Amino acid sequence: MTHLALNDVHVTIKGSHILQGVTFEVPENKVVALLGRNGVGKSTTLKAIMGLYPATGSITLNNKELVGTKTHHIVRSGLAYVPEDREIFASLTVKENLSLAERDKNPHYDLVYSLFPELKTRSGQRAGTLSGGQQQMVAISRVLLNKNSLLLIDEPTKGLAPKLVTEVADALAKVSGSSTMLLVEQNLALVKRVAEHIIVMDQGKVVFTGGPENLRNEEFVKRMLGVSGGSH
Ligand SMILES: Nc1ncnc2c1ncn2[C@@H]1O[C@H](COP(=O)(O)OP(=O)(O)OP(=O)(O)O)[C@@H](O)[C@H]1O
Ligand SMILES: [Mg+2]
Repeated sequence: MTHLALNDVHVTIKGSHILQGVTFEVPENKVVALLGRNGVGKSTTLKAIMGLYPATGSITLNNKELVGTKTHHIVRSGLAYVPEDREIFASLTVKENLSLAERDKNPHYDLVYSLFPELKTRSGQRAGTLSGGQQQMVAISRVLLNKNSLLLIDEPTKGLAPKLVTEVADALAKVSGSSTMLLVEQNLALVKRVAEHIIVMDQGKVVFTGGPENLRNEEFVKRMLGVSGGSH
């Protein structure tokens, strides 16, 4: 069964036609990576799925139409979103940040603390004093506390030191075994490790869908993403 399906999705922001007919699917229990150069519309696609931007076309979760649905209903239908800028509460402790995200009767603290033991030891620390990687762990943990049918994660390793990239990658790899995920990520090593499908966008449209093995092709990576794949 197809989990999430976008069909001819358009988004216009302040007169700019940002998404120009985006069509792709995220199958159940798969990890799909959404790739593309800066500014091609990856984050806008995730926000459109969450109902944060008005869209036309169709976005369905298990055949239920999301276009025109309010964001809080979309959240309740099981879509979890970790935004690019993390949006954690800097002045609150780690535990307070997590408590505020509790939605289910039995939040999965066991899962969160087994993935990120550091958050347990730092539970009384103000989130604003954590490193970027630790803050990312809090942001990811906030969605993992609840049962979700699909995770949308926007550039979780952006701006992180290499050691923390590895930590976040390890956690995502563990989570990916039991989740359906749409992951926006520039780190191709991480994408190769966790993604089962890749989608490449350019200028508001999908220009490629296929397997992650394509990322081993230097020429493909250069043409599609404008970067050298060799160093990743
Ligand atoms: N709120 C907004 N107002 C005006 N323009 C916007 C807004 N949000 C996005 N855009 C524009 O839409 C285009 C797509 O932006 P988007 O953030 O989706 O790109 P992206 O693929 O996520 O890029 P990056 O890799 O840099 O995160 C860009 O040209 C951006 O400037
Ligand atoms: Mg973005």
